[in-house]
Order: sequence, then C-alpha cells, then structure tokens
Amino acid sequence: MTQDQLKQAVARAAIDYIKPKLFNDSIIGVGTGSTANFFIDFLNEIKGHFAGTVASSEASAARLKKHGIDVLDCNSVSELVVYVDGADESNAHLQLIKGGGAALTQEKIVCALAKEFICIADGSKWVDVLGKFPLAVEVIPMARSYVARELVKLGGAPVYREGVITDNGNIILDVHNLQIIDAIAMETALNQITGVVTNGLFALRPADVLLLGTNDGVKTIRA
Ligand code: A5P
Repeated sequence: MTQDQLKQAVARAAIDYIKPKLFNDSIIGVGTGSTANFFIDFLNEIKGHFAGTVASSEASAARLKKHGIDVLDCNSVSELVVYVDGADESNAHLQLIKGGGAALTQEKIVCALAKEFICIADGSKWVDVLGKFPLAVEVIPMARSYVARELVKLGGAPVYREGVITDNGNIILDVHNLQIIDAIAMETALNQITGVVTNGLFALRPADVLLLGTNDGVKTIRA
C-alpha cells in the first residue's frame, strides 16, 4: 500500500472508532495535516451524528466548512468527546512529535479539551526513539535568536523555517539532531525557555490510542 492509502485506512478506522461514542450534542476536535484531511473528508459522511467541530488550524477549519460541517470557536466549548490528529513520530508510549505543518500550538489547545486523543498515522511514523524528525518549536518572532541559542544548549541544532508564519503570527524553529529519551523532561524544559510559545512534543499529554496503518492492516495501540 502507498503511504496515502495507509493514511486513508487510518482515517477510515478513526471514523469507525469514534462513531459509537457520538451523540447529537458531541463536539469533535479535528487536527491538521494530510492524514487529518482524509479524516475530515470521511467525517462528512457521518455529519448527522454530531453537533460540530473545533479545528486546530485555519486550513482544517476551511476544509470542514467546505463540507458543510460546523466549526465552533474553541472558547465556546468546554469539552470535546475526542480529538483526532496525525503525527510526525510516535514511540511505544504514544508520546508524539507533531508540528510538521506548523499547527502545533492550536493542536495542543484543542487536544487539551478532549476526553480522548486518537492519533492516526501511517507506519512510517512509528519510531523507537523520538527526534529523527526535526522538532518544531513555535517562537515569538523577537525571541528567535535567543531561543535558538538556548536550544543549542539543550543539544539541538535549530533551523529557522523560512517563509512560515503560524496561524498565531509566530515563527517556527525546527530542532535537528535530538535523541529524545525522556520526552516529558524535554517538553518541560523547552516550555521554560522565554519566548517559546509551545513545542511539538506531545508527551505530557500523549495520545490515548494510536491507529497505525501497516500493510497487515490498521493496528490499535494503547500506551
Ligand atoms: C501539523 O502541524 C502536524 O502536527 C501534523 O499533524 C503532522 O505533521 C502529521 O502530518 P501528516 O498527517 O501530513 O503526516
């Protein structure tokens, strides 16, 4: 199967997984990226089964609206029945690297509201140790150089993502050369750097379930 077929398979599996959990008043958190896009397209088929969504990016909000699916303001919602999103890497604890699409901050916010976080990913995202995929850090623009120096002290090699401004008006530093053994400690340390808005590690709040697309079918993995 191609990578896109695996992404479609996990997106379909996510629909099957969440459908029995939905009520007429349920609100669904929706992630960002190519796998999440497949999920949005399939969500269209069951749009009579829930009340609306909260999106983690302008791009996902636009795609949801194109399907006629309601997108609510995050501030008007106190709880999401589920949050469904892709990842750039996952380890066996379902700690993730996310942010390849620069939507990490809003992804963390939407995820924080969810009772259950379902990660959907093709098999290439499964790793023993997090960090081969560069870790995105969203930074207030005036702090870019300071934060970059602090990231070097933590052992990383930050690279400015040219031409990218996040939905929040900030910049992204992609940190290369990390081997993240203690993901909770790394996420916490990065959050302490002044000027960092957030980082792409989802370890303090890992996924609850990973639907992983492989050539042997979709595997359901719990931490
Ligand atoms: C967006 O900022 C990211 O966190 C994505 O969820 C992640 O990069 C996965 O993207 P794909 O589904 O496109 O691989």
